[in-house]
Amino acid sequence: MINQIREATDYLKRHGVTSPEVGVILGTGLNNKFVEKIKNPVIINYNSIPHFPISTVEFHKGKLIYGDVKGKKVLAMQGRFHYYEGYSMQQITLPVRVMKLLGVQYLLISNAAGNLNLKWKKGQLMLLEDHINLQPDNPLRGPNVEIFGPRFPDMSQPYSKKLNNRLIKIAKQRKIKLNQGVYVAVMGPNLETRAEYRFLGRIGADAVGMSTVPEVLVANHMGLPCCAISVLTDDCDPDNLKPVVLSDIIAIAGKTEGKLTELYVELIASL
Ligand code: HPA
Repeated sequence: MINQIREATDYLKRHGVTSPEVGVILGTGLNNKFVEKIKNPVIINYNSIPHFPISTVEFHKGKLIYGDVKGKKVLAMQGRFHYYEGYSMQQITLPVRVMKLLGVQYLLISNAAGNLNLKWKKGQLMLLEDHINLQPDNPLRGPNVEIFGPRFPDMSQPYSKKLNNRLIKIAKQRKIKLNQGVYVAVMGPNLETRAEYRFLGRIGADAVGMSTVPEVLVANHMGLPCCAISVLTDDCDPDNLKPVVLSDIIAIAGKTEGKLTELYVELIASL
């Protein structure tokens, strides 16, 4: 694994990704507007990078984009990997380790998630304040690589207070509604039953999705400050549940993408 991470890192350095400062992971339906903000882009397809998985979900593009946003060097993943695609947890988090070795100092994550909090509505954003991990595996399982981080990484503050406080301030200034809450990660790929949504709400989650937590665990392990924003794409009210299809999720994500992009671009400017 360490050799794979080093080979991918060396390949990217040789292909122009020399000094990224901020890493960005773009989630389902959130692939376009942020990428349009990247100036002087160097574009590298995942399938040309040694040991990079290839996104198997057809609505996820599979490209790394390196360029300038507000004077900072940004490396964005247009398309992420999910455990439900069949990859191991180590494979889906390999890009985060590569970003860290390339010199990234902050990791900004996005995802599409179901809304469990009945005070909120789909189409709104949620800043992750904390998470619950219900995925059946963990990227840190196995022998610990001490040069990356400790055996038992602390999780008392998985999302950077500094980044979150800045995002809250930017959202206020720009009149963007930014809820704060707890994200629960499940394996997927099925959406949840009514009983499962009820359960997830009761254990303290405000939003549910199939990603993000593996990347956050690896970022914390390596001491890489991170933040994450969910686009709430569907309302998960167990007493009033409507069928949800992927095209609805992608449509809502697409509509909300502009606000998320504005928050992340301004956050990058402030770093
Ligand atoms: N459940 C799990 N993942 C999701 C959902 C959901 O309702 N919506 C978007 N991603």
